[in-house]
Amino acid sequence: MTQEPKSISRRRFVVYGGAVSAALVVGGGGYTAANWAPAETDELLRTTMGDGMSTVLVVYGTKSGCTTGIAEKIGETLAAAGATADVVPAEDSPDPSAYDAVIVGSGIRVAQWHGAVKEWFLGNASALSARPTAMFTCCLTMATEPEKAEEVRAYTDPLIEESGVTPVALGLFAGWNESARFSLPERLILRALKAPKGDFRDFEAVAAWTRETAEALGVT
Ligand SMILES: Cc1cc2nc3c(=O)[nH]c(=O)nc-3n(C[C@H](O)[C@H](O)[C@H](O)COP(=O)(O)O)c2cc1C
Repeated sequence: MTQEPKSISRRRFVVYGGAVSAALVVGGGGYTAANWAPAETDELLRTTMGDGMSTVLVVYGTKSGCTTGIAEKIGETLAAAGATADVVPAEDSPDPSAYDAVIVGSGIRVAQWHGAVKEWFLGNASALSARPTAMFTCCLTMATEPEKAEEVRAYTDPLIEESGVTPVALGLFAGWNESARFSLPERLILRALKAPKGDFRDFEAVAAWTRETAEALGVT
């Protein structure tokens, strides 16, 4: 944790997110495509870690690169626990049926997982239902208002309901507000919300959750 986060609520994410996006669509004619792009491009890491008998697919969705680091830590922890972990972005459409277990997660925009990972999850629902699957969400509410964990947990309720997949665990992790990694509209939304700046990821918490979850997945 780089600093003490302040409080922002889900309603404000939705209200300010919508208002700032609408203002930019209506009045954004003066911006060039370059102004709208994130200052740094996302790193969509794809890697294999460990050489254990049990195989785990770790699928993630990110826009700013924040969730990449969480997925990588999950992979490292699984490898240290004796499994083999393939960490793959949802955009690469990995096939879950080749694995003993799956961990899938995403960063959040306006109370939802990213489109690519939602699509992957729904498109692979029967393979996910046929093997132990855990989910995780990475967002700012878990940094600013961890007491609202139930609200964050509910971000994935529609996906769980639509897919029929019952996760063995659902990890809720703090993310970041690193201006250089967000596009101009995203920066304006976070500024309007007075979201505190910093990288609030707690990699020890991610590792502890992964160790517990590895047992629940039956891969240790
Ligand atoms: C436009 C925008 C909307 C966001 N909406 C939410 C939200 O509804 N709830 C939340 O807790 N965090 C929200 N966040 C914070 C992100 O989930 C957080 O910055 C996360 O670390 C981003 O990770 P990713 O880029 O890997 O997806 C939002 C961020 C932006 C830029």
